[in-house]
Amino acid sequence: MKYCFDEVIERRGTNCIKWDYTKEIFGKEEILPLWVADMDFSVPPQVQQELEKRIKHPVFGYSGVPDGFKESFINWMQKRHDWSVENEWIIANPGVVPAISLAINTFSEEGDKVVIQPPVYPPFFSTAEKNKRELVLNPLQETDNGYEMDFDHLKKNIDSRTKMLIFCNPHNPVGRVWRENELEELVRICAEKDVLLVSDEIWSDIIMPGFKHLPLAKVADKLAYDGVITCMAPSKTFNLAGLKASATVIPEDKYRAKFIDLAERFGMNKVNMFGGITFTSAYNYGEDWLECLVSYLDENMDFLIKFLGEKLPAIKASKSEGTYLVWLDFRGLGLTDEDLVERMVHKARVGLNPGFSFGDQGKGFLRINVGCPRPLLVEALERIEDEFKNG
Ligand SMILES: Cc1ncc(COP(=O)(O)O)c(C=O)c1O
Repeated sequence: MKYCFDEVIERRGTNCIKWDYTKEIFGKEEILPLWVADMDFSVPPQVQQELEKRIKHPVFGYSGVPDGFKESFINWMQKRHDWSVENEWIIANPGVVPAISLAINTFSEEGDKVVIQPPVYPPFFSTAEKNKRELVLNPLQETDNGYEMDFDHLKKNIDSRTKMLIFCNPHNPVGRVWRENELEELVRICAEKDVLLVSDEIWSDIIMPGFKHLPLAKVADKLAYDGVITCMAPSKTFNLAGLKASATVIPEDKYRAKFIDLAERFGMNKVNMFGGITFTSAYNYGEDWLECLVSYLDENMDFLIKFLGEKLPAIKASKSEGTYLVWLDFRGLGLTDEDLVERMVHKARVGLNPGFSFGDQGKGFLRINVGCPRPLLVEALERIEDEFKNG
């Protein structure tokens, strides 16, 4: 392979959340961390080179969004997702979670209702709650075909105070890449009930072979619904999460003007100097690297699923359609969540995300991140096997 994803790069000592904060997060230092959603891989070489070029210039004063920032994004969306985005629809922000929080504050008031679909990325809960919005849970349903949205439940749980639904497309942690008919149904319901859709598409580029990401706004456009705000970023795709740069896409003028107004008031209509450079160069030069990355992640996922099937059949998992996360079902072991986490951290010495942090629907699950060199994945799985082989 052209890029070496097997290389284990020492990340300890870089103030890295995944490796350096294990004591604070798990209460134990010596664990193999396969939890928080970043990867243990170096960025595409061209991205590193662009950054080095800028760092060699020793003045780091105020800087604007780089020339080519929006163009790189427009070209990427067209090429990868067949979505035509216009220049003026794009707003630069310092991350997707800040953009979601801005959207909550722009389009709803304290006490209004915000719908989320657990099990789901924990900041969907906390951004709504910390902004004093009432959370409405529309849990995904477990079916023989995997997780699905529960549209009947959604229809019944929207009322006049429901202003927005925060949608995870593709879905973290269950790894669904939503199909067109599912997206259409979601849009129809929200259009009919006048609920804005904030579509978090940060995972849209990590799509396993055989699946295709569909931007929700594209589906909504076909159905003549203009209430979609899309949050995108290159941070999962190219492993740039520490650089804090994202793009929010709002085609409808009236919504965009309100969002920009609040972003300006909070000084959140900007990206960090280095984030702007890496955003632009990753979208311009990273496609070939991404193709290799996705093949590697796909093989990691196959390896994981085969390993569990052969050696730990009581732990159920299916391959994710998108993301580099896999949702592991330990319910067959009959453990309490406390025991499960205790044994995983203190006996197996592997750091995974507890399922309950994604909502009550995640009880009995753990989330594993396969965005790591295969030798680390093998080591983690062998440790898990040693601890859980007898139940
Ligand atoms: C669904 C989802 N949205 C947003 C983020 C983080 O976005 P940012 O770092 O740009 O705030 C993550 C990170 O794991 C995520 O999984």
